[in-house]
Amino acid sequence: MCGIVGYIGEKDIKQILLGGLKELEYRGYDSAGIAVLNNGEFSIFKAVGKLINLEEKTKDFHPQGFSIGIGHTRWATHGKPTELNAHPHVGKKSYVVHNGIIENYAELKKELETKGVEFLSQTDTEVIVHLFEDLQKEAKTNFEAFEKTVQTLHGAYATLLVTKEEPDTVFFAKEGSPLLIAKNENGEIYFASSDTAVIGEASQAHYFEDGDYGYASKDGVFIFDKDGKPKQPKWQKLEQNKLSAQKEGYRFFMEKEIYEQSDVLSDTLLGRATENEVVFEEIDKELFDGINEIKFCACGTSYHAALCASYLFERYAKIRVSVEIASELRYKEPLLMPDTLFVVISQSGETADTLETLKMAKNAGLKTLAICNVDNSSMVRLADATILTRAGIEKGVASTKAFATQVAVLWMLSLYVAKLRNTIEKDALQNQLRTLRTIPQVVKVDDGMHERIKRLSKRYLHGHGFFFIGRDVFFPLALEGALKLKEISYLHAEGYPAGEMKHGPIALADPELFTIALLPKNLLFEKTRSNIEELSARDSTICVVGSEEFEKGDDFIKTKPHRHYMQEFFEMMVALQLLSLEISVRLGNDVDMPRNLAKSVTVE
Ligand code: G6P
Repeated sequence: MCGIVGYIGEKDIKQILLGGLKELEYRGYDSAGIAVLNNGEFSIFKAVGKLINLEEKTKDFHPQGFSIGIGHTRWATHGKPTELNAHPHVGKKSYVVHNGIIENYAELKKELETKGVEFLSQTDTEVIVHLFEDLQKEAKTNFEAFEKTVQTLHGAYATLLVTKEEPDTVFFAKEGSPLLIAKNENGEIYFASSDTAVIGEASQAHYFEDGDYGYASKDGVFIFDKDGKPKQPKWQKLEQNKLSAQKEGYRFFMEKEIYEQSDVLSDTLLGRATENEVVFEEIDKELFDGINEIKFCACGTSYHAALCASYLFERYAKIRVSVEIASELRYKEPLLMPDTLFVVISQSGETADTLETLKMAKNAGLKTLAICNVDNSSMVRLADATILTRAGIEKGVASTKAFATQVAVLWMLSLYVAKLRNTIEKDALQNQLRTLRTIPQVVKVDDGMHERIKRLSKRYLHGHGFFFIGRDVFFPLALEGALKLKEISYLHAEGYPAGEMKHGPIALADPELFTIALLPKNLLFEKTRSNIEELSARDSTICVVGSEEFEKGDDFIKTKPHRHYMQEFFEMMVALQLLSLEISVRLGNDVDMPRNLAKSVTVE
């Protein structure tokens, strides 16, 4: 997702801005740009695609001496990923970069247009710079104009603005999206949306709080809170080691990625889960014309996300769904019918088996869609349409945040298709969207729960196997929980539909068989409870995950009370991820690089 950098000083500003953006690259983006003010003149460079394109454009640019500058990597939300829509955005003599969404941009734009302002891009961001220049006309100082601009904006923003009228100053504001200012002993000043962009350059950072705004120049940093009261920066020492900084204090990338899920899910939903509808700017509605079936195809964790989708699509969009494991589909001589939309799901976009099935579907003349985390990957290039999951780079081999964002996208897509097919009432859709928007909060790791799971994990290091059980979408979640555990603990684990245990697997039940039972309150509670009782009667050791304690269980991981089963789904997902992580840590395994596994499997 979008990244911001800024700089005030005498060093090679081009290298600093591009280097900072490079460090933010892992968040994903589709265009980038920088604006540098040097000797009273602006130089602007923008490019679509990877940073290398921007580097190429700036290769003859060598500013000397003091400069100020801002830079941005953009993940398109309002307007397609074109050069015109890339930041920085220009007014007459000022430039702005912005992360987030300006919710009242449409009305502000209309108002400015009636005053004769011409807009060049389709972005919401562009209103900031025009509004600032409009207010400059009346204001006594540039800062006053900026302050008024910030007070007029609604929504989420981290923004930097520079103007020719004050060539040593960067104006900043933060509400809802992260932003920090950093400095070093030479008096240089840096801005960034994440400290990874300034590590190695700056020694201290101050992290802005929501509502903060102000300006910085060679003369100092001036910060004001949301009530306009001046406040002092709280400088904190910055980590100097890039690698451990990337882990941001977590023991493993997997742990960091579990904790990151709240932020990345906000990114996944951004601009898509609106109040009344699901918006996917990247696909055309016509993709679903003449479609009577959706066939999902994937491997590993992505296959589990596909299984979740099968429940959600049939329930909400009332459309026939089939789910295939890619390595199986390849050789089963499948019937690929022209009224089927073929959807591949893949974190990497490179998994050989899934890629091959996408080629098969294309050759059979089917419409295709890729749900993928990596832009420009082979699947993205090949499919007719793509929805990116926006999870950012996932380093842990055991997938966590990629799965969370896949399920969120699939849930949104099921509602999108439901609306197209008129299978969902307006109120029901609004209710689903409201629930969706709570998910970033739901997956925030609760310290109490993590501590509890850490303690509990010591009881689950042996035994002859684990069964993870659940019903409905909690069955694929059980499969995913079992996969996580085997991937990093090397213990035998299986996922099962709770109601299916009696048809064979229950024969294994004894105290050394550990059952992790997913017991949501809002979906098939009684049915699942009966299945757990059957296991408890056979003396299996049972750990229940749910919001209501179950007296016949041995252990209990308590989730918060929720009103919707998908909220329970996402909180249980976090609990299962943490359980695998803590068991693996106790067993002394390499959590991030488990034996025999690869992050991206590009062989058949
Ligand atoms: C490998 C990874 C899994 C992943 C699977 C599919 O096995 O270790 O974590 O789920 O590939 O990968 P994809 O990139 O297609 O989602």
